[in-house]
Order: sequence, then C-alpha cells, then structure tokens
Amino acid sequence: MCTEDYRQVSSSVKVAGSVRMRTPEQARSYEAGRFSGSRRGRRLDRIDKAFAEKLYSMVGSESCIVDVPCGSGRFYDIFCGAKSLVMIDCDPNMLGAARESHDIGENAAMLQADIGCMPLEDNSADLCFSMRLFHHIETEEIVRKILRELARVSRRYVAVGFYNTNSWRYLSRKIRGKKVTGHYYSFHRMAAVGREVGLEIAEKHPRINLLEQQCLVLFRKIQDT
Ligand SMILES: C[S@@+](CC[C@H](N)C(=O)[O-])C[C@H]1O[C@@H](n2cnc3c(N)ncnc32)[C@H](O)[C@@H]1O
Repeated sequence: MCTEDYRQVSSSVKVAGSVRMRTPEQARSYEAGRFSGSRRGRRLDRIDKAFAEKLYSMVGSESCIVDVPCGSGRFYDIFCGAKSLVMIDCDPNMLGAARESHDIGENAAMLQADIGCMPLEDNSADLCFSMRLFHHIETEEIVRKILRELARVSRRYVAVGFYNTNSWRYLSRKIRGKKVTGHYYSFHRMAAVGREVGLEIAEKHPRINLLEQQCLVLFRKIQDT
C-alpha cells in the first residue's frame, strides 16, 4: 500500500505531504490553543464534535472506528464506547498527549503510522474518520491516495473534513488578493476523487459553506456487486 512519494520521517513512519511534528509541549497545548482560546475556536470544536457524535450514533457501539489522524485525542470521549477504536497519528508526541489526557481503555489501540499506509486489514472498520488533515495536503494526488487508503480499510463509511474553495472565507481572501493559508479543494473535486476510489457522498455539512471554509463529508463505500 505504501507509495514512493511519502516523505520518510523515521524508520517506521512515512508521511504524506508536509507535516509539522510537534514538541511534547506543543502537542499538549494543541487543543487548548486551537479550540479553547477564542469564540470561533470553540464553535469549530462544537461543530466537529457534533459531526463525530452523529457518526457514532450511526455506526453504534458494536462498531470498529479508526480515528486518523487522532491528534491529541479530541474525539476520544465520543468514540471510546465503540467495540474497538484505533487511534493513529504519525506524531509520537500527539499520541503521547492523547495518552496523558485520556484514560485510554482496553478497546482502544494507539498506532504511530502514516494515514497513507495504515497497518490495518482491508474492510476492517465500520468508520474511518479523518478530521483537520486535508488542508495540510498539498496535492490532489496525495488526497486521492489517502482517500483510497481510508476506503480500503473501511467496509462502510469514511468521514473527512476539508477546506472548501466554495466558502466566503476563501473567496473573500482571493478577491482582496490576500494570502490563503492551507490547501483548499472544491466539494465537486472531493466528490469526484471519492468516486474514483469507490466512495459515494452520503452527507455534506454544511449544505453551503456560507462563511467557514471547513466542509464535513460522509462518504459511503460503494459495495461491489
Ligand atoms: C490539525 S491536527 C488534527 C488532529 C485531530 N484530527 C483533530 O481534529 O483534533 C493534524 C494531525 O495530523 C497528523 N498528521 C499529519 N500528517 C499525517 C500523516 N501522514 N499520517 C498520520 N498523521 C498525520 C499530525 O501529527 C497532527 O496530529
């Protein structure tokens, strides 16, 4: 499953696209810094978590969920009731921060690995959940490889968040000639790339990105006939 254009960062982990490894202190303060310090941060955190809760209620407590990248475990309290939870991140310090801040149960495994090459069996999960990674991914080709890998591991659903070009935040910066940080994709392209790897759109939130750029998409795996 591994492909050559992943950047080798250690003997066991290869990373798709560019990624900033955090120090232990940065990893510990990631959630507070990003999601607690401002009204907008708290609102985004609530939106992400409401999406995760909705997905958990769909797959239920008998499911296997893969949270990748899990970061410092922002969704652990929502997914921890699953029969099995696999938390994957390429950064050992983020995994360490997740371990420090949560009482990780025996149904949960933590793996340091690349999302583009996960050490998991085909069709072994009900839901692969990937939040706040795609805006770090530089090319559609790598997005495709990641979606293909998520579709390989999941037998039912793949959920992702990405920055949508059809959002006021993106368009207004472009119109004003301001710098746009992060990598944006259109919903149309994400849906097309999903189809190429065997995924169809099941849900999209919000229906229209009026202000925020983050678009949350639930794909359903297209079953072979
Ligand atoms: C912005 S954080 C989001 C973490 C979590 N999903 C959340 O929403 O709180 C991005 C995470 O992606 C991880 N990451 C980046 N590239 C990765 C890769 N190729 N494979 C696995 N994890 C990766 C980083 O280490 C970091 O923990």
